[in-house]
Amino acid sequence: MKDRQRLGDIPEEEFRKRLHELADWIADYREHIAERRIAPNDKPGAILAQLDRTPPETAASLDEIFADVERVIVPGIAHWAHPQFMSYFGCTTTSPGILAEMITGALNVNAMTWRTSPAATELETLVLDWLRQWLGLPDEFGGVVYDTASISTMHALAAAREQAAPNTRKLGLSRRSLPTFRIYTSDQAHSSVEKGAIALGIGEENVQRVPTDAEFRMDVAALREMIALDLRNNFRPLAVVATVGTTSTASVDPIPEIAQVCREHKMWLHIDGAYGAGLALLPECKWVGAGWSEADSLVINPHKMLFVPLDFSALYLRDVGRLRRLFALTPEHVHLRDPIGAEINYMDYGVQLGRRFRALKAWVVWRAFGRDGLAARIRDHLRLAKLFADWIQEDKRFELSAPVMMGVVCFRCKVGGGHDEKIDIINSQIVERINASGRAYLTQTKLRGRTVMRIGLGNVLTTEAHLRNVWEMIQETASNL
Ligand SMILES: Cc1ncc(COP(=O)(O)O)c(C=O)c1O
Repeated sequence: MKDRQRLGDIPEEEFRKRLHELADWIADYREHIAERRIAPNDKPGAILAQLDRTPPETAASLDEIFADVERVIVPGIAHWAHPQFMSYFGCTTTSPGILAEMITGALNVNAMTWRTSPAATELETLVLDWLRQWLGLPDEFGGVVYDTASISTMHALAAAREQAAPNTRKLGLSRRSLPTFRIYTSDQAHSSVEKGAIALGIGEENVQRVPTDAEFRMDVAALREMIALDLRNNFRPLAVVATVGTTSTASVDPIPEIAQVCREHKMWLHIDGAYGAGLALLPECKWVGAGWSEADSLVINPHKMLFVPLDFSALYLRDVGRLRRLFALTPEHVHLRDPIGAEINYMDYGVQLGRRFRALKAWVVWRAFGRDGLAARIRDHLRLAKLFADWIQEDKRFELSAPVMMGVVCFRCKVGGGHDEKIDIINSQIVERINASGRAYLTQTKLRGRTVMRIGLGNVLTTEAHLRNVWEMIQETASNL
């Protein structure tokens, strides 16, 4: 019996005991997270220095392992779920999402084909359709779930390339007289566009950055000029990637006008709504979805605004069959398929074979909150962002650096005797000092070449009191500098 257990899994009683302990640990972690230091002040390598670098030759006890988790790992992470962590996007985990992740871990299914896990596949179809309806996308749009927006955008651009250069799937790119393709995206767009171009052999330099207007939205007149110039120089305009909720300021590109340009030039329109598309769940924010129905593809990351834990990215295509025609390799995997062939096999819609069961956490979170509950929480984050903007405007030492469109505020401390470079340094120093304090976490970004501070709101644990704490910390740090 002892031997059998040594070869199999850990003993059942031990697993059960640990599971109960872990349940309490997770509940305590959530309840007391605000008391923690948000991030360590360590130098790179500090965590590795505390861990045994020798591969484990013999078994260690779970007591020992979990003691190391408490001692080294937990203090060594940035606590994205801390209510005063106001950095980046994607701190939208929620307790229903954590529970669902535990189930997913236990089930450990691979959602590569319908046959390898029918419920994982059909739940993916279901949550994709719920989200499509919430986004107001026409029902001809079909979706697929990937891990991140970078991967979604790369797949969208792959479909665009296959449309413009048919048979690239079969023949590749070399030794063919193909034109040089161009992709246009704003100077505020995410670098995932370049990464996609690199991966697809389109080339980083063929991603053209279009200037933005005073509110950081793509300048459509400039887009037209860039396309005209490229046509004169024998480039082939392939796609526009328009952003709904840019990374720095959450600005929204003028999609209807961009869609018109795409129509005129027969270009693919991909919308990067990784962060901002979630706003469409609010009836009062329907403006955000203007022009989406004219897009060829759209990506949204529900882990950035819609309370699903990392990672979950949904890519929609007007004709999702394009992805299947591009990536399905039937003969090799025929044994995985249903003989009738009526099913969806999501592995056919992208480069990966194995796929996590991501749909479960979206299904649990969205049912646990409902659309109205999701919308109410997003609405509260918008309220907090506006409140923060009001506080900035009341303190003459600070200014807003961009309009507040979503749960993001960019602002700048103006003290520094009017010298831009000096002011840049002061703004960086405020962010660094606050982050080093472990009590709040902000980011800095560059807008029009100047350093500004930025907060992102999206955590269900963040209250007005937390926001007030962070603002007072910023004011105090600015005074001390
Ligand atoms: C607008 C936008 N698009 C794309 C991405 C890339 O997201 P991911 O990390 O899911 O690849 C980000 C990341 O923050 C983003 O802000």
